[in-house]
Amino acid sequence: MSSIRKSKQVIKSSEITPESVYLNRRSVLQTIGTLSTGLAINLFVNDSINANENQLTFSPNNKYSTTESLNSYEDITTYNNFYEFGMQKSDPYNYGSQFEPKPWSVKVSGEANKTGVFDLDDLIDINALEERIYRLRCVEAWSMVIPWVGIPLASIIKKLQPKLNAKYVAFETVYRPKQMPGQRRPALDWPYIEGLTMQEAMHPLTIIAVGLYGKELLNQNGAPMRLVVPWKYGFKSIKSINKIHFQSKKPLTSWNISAPNEYGFLANVNPEVDHPRWSQARERRIGAGFFGTKQPTLMFNGYAEDVANLYSGISLRRNF
Ligand code: MTE
Repeated sequence: MSSIRKSKQVIKSSEITPESVYLNRRSVLQTIGTLSTGLAINLFVNDSINANENQLTFSPNNKYSTTESLNSYEDITTYNNFYEFGMQKSDPYNYGSQFEPKPWSVKVSGEANKTGVFDLDDLIDINALEERIYRLRCVEAWSMVIPWVGIPLASIIKKLQPKLNAKYVAFETVYRPKQMPGQRRPALDWPYIEGLTMQEAMHPLTIIAVGLYGKELLNQNGAPMRLVVPWKYGFKSIKSINKIHFQSKKPLTSWNISAPNEYGFLANVNPEVDHPRWSQARERRIGAGFFGTKQPTLMFNGYAEDVANLYSGISLRRNF
């Protein structure tokens, strides 16, 4: 089975798509998407837009996209948290090139009818890719707005047919210390692990991203597949996933193990609950410059209307 990743990616600054060019392309794509079929989008992308083989074919999802201005491709590919490559924001960009995301398989286990080892293409239908512009807000009080390309996690979960007692989904990042220099040091208890309740995992806002800015994910962004959960602090959005486990008990998570008083399981963006060492009331948009004004952080990162009902009756002050 072929993989959606076609080439090893080393990005040069000359290849970075300026935001304005991207926005023009996107509006053309959007028009075609509205007027015509997926086939038209396919033809247009393949023939006219970009000969780059990392280009993906997708249709824009306006329902779940914010209209805020985008961070640049350079912002999202050079300023990252991916401790497997080091703890500095520039480490994933500087030290990510040895990582080989092709071929890729995912081990599915636990309380599901379909378990085993799956090729990436068996889990992700590349003809169903959508683009969603999401704001991702890091627990460190900065944020970015990124055009992600992916599919709802729910579509993968449905294929795997979880059993009734599967109340949680746990995820694990690949463990490859030879390719991921940060894993040779005990910054976290490797491999990186995360988890969601089944309701959160099935929510239509939750996606598995395989690309951004119309191209396949670069290593620093979690190639070849990563989670994006826009109403939660960024650390929930686990990268380079190679294990999915369905279970009845709440899973452990890397940051909760590392600092339980600072990082809870839910990790919902809540501007009213300070991190023990800093306020969560405001955030700095990356790219706004060091002196750029901070903006107020919104409850559930602005997605309250869509997700607040998942937490009715739960104290979000105690369950952070
Ligand atoms: N996933 C893994 N495997 N390792 C990590 O260190 N960092 C998390 C999350 N996913 C992390 C990870 C944190 S803290 C954040 S804020 C987001 O990735 C950052 O995603 P981005 O670099 O695409 O913005």
